[in-house]
Amino acid sequence: MTRIGILTGGGDCPGLNAVIRAVTKGALYRHDLEVVGFSNGFRGLVENEARLIGEEEVSGILHRGGTILGTTNRDNPFAFRLPAPGGGFRKVDCSRRAIKNLERWSVDCLVVVGGDGSLALGHRFSQMGVPVIGIPKTIDNDLPATDVTFGFDTAAATATEAIDKLHTTAESHHRAMIVEVMGRNAGWIALQAGMAGGGDIILIPEMPFDYDVICSKILERRSRGKQFSIIVAAEGAYPEGGEPLYRQTAGGAKRLGGIGQLVADAIEMRLGMESRATVLGHLQRGGTPTPYDRVLATRFGVQAVELIHAGHRNEMVCLQGGDICSVSLAEAASGVRRIDPSCEQVRAAAAVGTSFGSRQEEY
Ligand code: F6P
Repeated sequence: MTRIGILTGGGDCPGLNAVIRAVTKGALYRHDLEVVGFSNGFRGLVENEARLIGEEEVSGILHRGGTILGTTNRDNPFAFRLPAPGGGFRKVDCSRRAIKNLERWSVDCLVVVGGDGSLALGHRFSQMGVPVIGIPKTIDNDLPATDVTFGFDTAAATATEAIDKLHTTAESHHRAMIVEVMGRNAGWIALQAGMAGGGDIILIPEMPFDYDVICSKILERRSRGKQFSIIVAAEGAYPEGGEPLYRQTAGGAKRLGGIGQLVADAIEMRLGMESRATVLGHLQRGGTPTPYDRVLATRFGVQAVELIHAGHRNEMVCLQGGDICSVSLAEAASGVRRIDPSCEQVRAAAAVGTSFGSRQEEY
């Protein structure tokens, strides 16, 4: 075995460069293996955009956000968008072309650094005979089989800092401040940052909320002399009997978003209380990774190389109970991990007076 391929797929997150560095240095220093980096996720695999990555290229990138390889969350090699003869696009299965390119570069095992979408694509390639090792990344922290994904800690830290800042202005103006955070259909960022920032109400998709419960909590705070409230809303949160809020983009894509403003409007209408919504958006994906994310990404990257060197294939590295280990790609790509409303973390938040705005609060 001589060469490892690596790509970063899906939405970026802080820590991707730390992983690329760890895979490259771990391969070169410990096993004398070469590393080929494919550009822009699976698109580079289909279009044969790749290069050998040496020590020089990964030097000084540990603390940098983004990914030196580039990424995309649009290109699926099994339904790849190619220009159609009469204009527009058609979707074509380019998976064989991608495999040819791996052969062209003499790649013996492909490291896919991705979230659920990219890992599922990696799994499909493994079923076609391509040796694959997965590394879990996403700010959403919603992958099964790993306790934590890298990128999450940084996103939660960014959201916490924002909540801290909103706290002071909320207090000065006696307002309800709603912070909308990312996370897709899982509430991990909202729960983590909401707890760390002392949010009064945390809205997560796993516990549909009720406007009456939200308003009662605000009134209860007022009765104790607290004239402001901080509400942390996951972008996928929705009211009981409703569903997550998507908006259609000009390009035809569906994106989660807007629940923060909806909650702000409802509070203003029901309580006559001035309310403001702040959407943190992609700030949560950018910037310098936290020490935790740098270390986790490094441990994952090194373990991926060790697995490859030891002959493992079609597995994903993961963190379980503090230890780095691995699971099958099939298990890794089996859906998303969401918050159990009766878990200890939710109960701890409730124990210190945090409301989840839900009638189903089970703690
Ligand atoms: O999965 C990561 C994530 O940042 C989600 O939290 C968010 O819903 C989505 O990606 C945003 O995607 P895009 O970068 O395409 O706007």
